[in-house]
Amino acid sequence: MSTESDATPDELRARARRRWEAQAPIWERERAWFDAAVDPVAHAMIDAIAPQPGHVVLEAAAGLGETGLLAAELVHPGGRVILSDGAEAMVAAARRHAEERGIQNVEASAMELEWLDMPAASVDALLVRFGYMHVQDPETALRDARRVLRPGGRLAFAVWDRVEDNPWLGAAMEVLHRHGLLETWPVPDSEPNPFALASRERLEELVGGAGFVLPQTDRIEVRFRSASAAEHRQRVLEISDRAARALQDVAGEGRTAIEAEIDAAYAAFPDPDGPEGAVAVPGGALVIAADA
Ligand SMILES: C[S@@+](CC[C@H](N)C(=O)[O-])C[C@H]1O[C@@H](n2cnc3c(N)ncnc32)[C@H](O)[C@@H]1O
Repeated sequence: MSTESDATPDELRARARRRWEAQAPIWERERAWFDAAVDPVAHAMIDAIAPQPGHVVLEAAAGLGETGLLAAELVHPGGRVILSDGAEAMVAAARRHAEERGIQNVEASAMELEWLDMPAASVDALLVRFGYMHVQDPETALRDARRVLRPGGRLAFAVWDRVEDNPWLGAAMEVLHRHGLLETWPVPDSEPNPFALASRERLEELVGGAGFVLPQTDRIEVRFRSASAAEHRQRVLEISDRAARALQDVAGEGRTAIEAEIDAAYAAFPDPDGPEGAVAVPGGALVIAADA
């Protein structure tokens, strides 16, 4: 089997898709925690696209589709929301999620972010929350975004700001790195990873290069709240596939010591509004909006 460094882009895509398929049950389990933290990001994206009755809104790399579902009521009557993701298991979870909430004007289907399975100029608005930094080729993906949007349609997407602005994930990665458990750290921006697009200049260049106009970038602060530092650590080690892989062969006292170090890092962010021991670990996202 080829290693990460000598694999072809298609092999890397297939590998990433398998990982996301495996992650779907974890995302479903941790949905409430993640969505509570990044809700301000979803709302900033919805404000940016200003959905209107009758609009067709596509959410891509949607995961469970939380952002797209916010648009469903706003496009009613006459409009619809399409939730899509590259992982079938995420699509199934998004469909269940919409059904549980009784939302009628929503459909869900599997779709690659780099080549959206939609006709040209068929969409009024496109939402992508925390998706573009995970694709092999964000430039191709943004060009395809431009293709599916009707002229004047709106794109709104979110990426994580720099790792040092995101201790909610970065603090655990830093400890794993200190213990020599990460193959590469920081991960180069050329490789898909949560922080690959944390540069306003690169984002505006990518968005402008894909043919969008008037790109605007806003920074949104978030807080991940958990009852304890240990609970936050458990959640992060589950939803970060890279972190989970780093620790998969570490057991016993070695593992306990590393986990204690991670907990100490998160305990530095006590939740002023929470009970004793609760944490509110900060992060920052960039929300980019542009016209097609
Ligand atoms: C970090 S999760 C974000 C999920 C959701 N957008 C949210 O904010 O809660 C990234 C999502 O992107 C999807 N994804 C990753 N690469 C993709 C690709 N090339 N095409 C489509 N979806 C992809 C994953 O399956 C996963 O659901």
